[in-house]
Amino acid sequence: MAKDPVRVLVTGAAGQIGYALVPMIARGIMLGPDQPVILHMLDIDPAAEALKGVKMELTDAAFPLLKGVVATTDVVEACKGVNIAVMVGGFPCKEGMQRKDVMPRNVSIYKAHASALEQHAAPNCKVLVVANPANTNAIILKEFAPSISEKNITCLTRLDHNRALSQISERLNVHISAVKNVIVWGNHSSTQYPDAKHATVTTNSGEKSVRELVADDHWLHTEFVAIVQQRGDDIIKARKLSSALSAASAACDHIRNWVLGTPKGTWVSMGVHSDGSYGVQPGLIYSFPVTCQKGEWSIVQGLKIDEYSRAKMDATAEELIEEKSLAYSCLNE
Ligand code: NAD
Ligand code: LMR
Repeated sequence: MAKDPVRVLVTGAAGQIGYALVPMIARGIMLGPDQPVILHMLDIDPAAEALKGVKMELTDAAFPLLKGVVATTDVVEACKGVNIAVMVGGFPCKEGMQRKDVMPRNVSIYKAHASALEQHAAPNCKVLVVANPANTNAIILKEFAPSISEKNITCLTRLDHNRALSQISERLNVHISAVKNVIVWGNHSSTQYPDAKHATVTTNSGEKSVRELVADDHWLHTEFVAIVQQRGDDIIKARKLSSALSAASAACDHIRNWVLGTPKGTWVSMGVHSDGSYGVQPGLIYSFPVTCQKGEWSIVQGLKIDEYSRAKMDATAEELIEEKSLAYSCLNE
């Protein structure tokens, strides 16, 4: 029997990531090739015409899994009955601006979107925040949607995770599908800590540790970390626009693993509510290694953390604490 459609909200749907993401969702890349979807697309008035155009293109693409499209600038209409919400809309950090310059705009957007989701989304709606500052926007969303479980509010660090996998694959000259279990700890920012010390590569003679194969902690501590941390900026320099197709693809990976599960023996990185694991302040939205089963994520426990990693994990937590306090100060302005 055919499955009932799942309603997926994409905010900022007329933007770059939105334009790459909605066809992926409609093709089944996010939720599987047998899962019909109804797309809810939200943008703001200045983008209303462009949003109409995206809706026309979705219709013209004749996707078999796409059972309906809601394209609107009304946040309440957009949130009605959604099972999954991918929050891409936000005020961008333009050239010459710092995160703190855009914080007041984003805090007010995420406060409003939180209320609409809380009141109108389907029960148990799963939320993924993509728009930057992703971890802190997710905290604001959690603050203003108290009835949505903290287990259901996450942010995107899967793009960083995928970037880390690809750097290991290039360095060791192995296919990306052979590499697993890198970790991105902390903030989706340049303080994130990409960690390959627990990662492995599947070879003809079994599973080997990346640390052993690289045989060079110096590279793992310097070039590897720097490339992954700065990849977003390097893409902006090259494209004069921020990453979009890789961000959309990572958003699909994040939701697919969350809903359908992670393969046995494999973890992925997700920005999730900290319960104090690994000494991270409870209540922060921090990127951890997680496994997913039956629609629920759990933080991988018991990994050995050396002194180098500890310092990096603490530094990115420190930045998140500062961002959180800046965001809360904007609420009082
Ligand atoms: P974009 O500017 O092309 O698109 C953003 C869209 O959001 C625009 O269409 C805009 O009109 C819309 N928007 C603005 N305010 C809105 C509101 N209140 N409600 C609904 N829509 C609204 O930007 P983009 O390149 O698509 O990137 C979107 C966000 O994702 C940015 O914040 C970017 O920094 C972030 N990003 C995050 C990651 C990640 O890995 N977490 C990766 C890449 C980009
Ligand atoms: C990325 O990691 O590619 C983006 O978050 C960069 C950005 O600032 O939009």
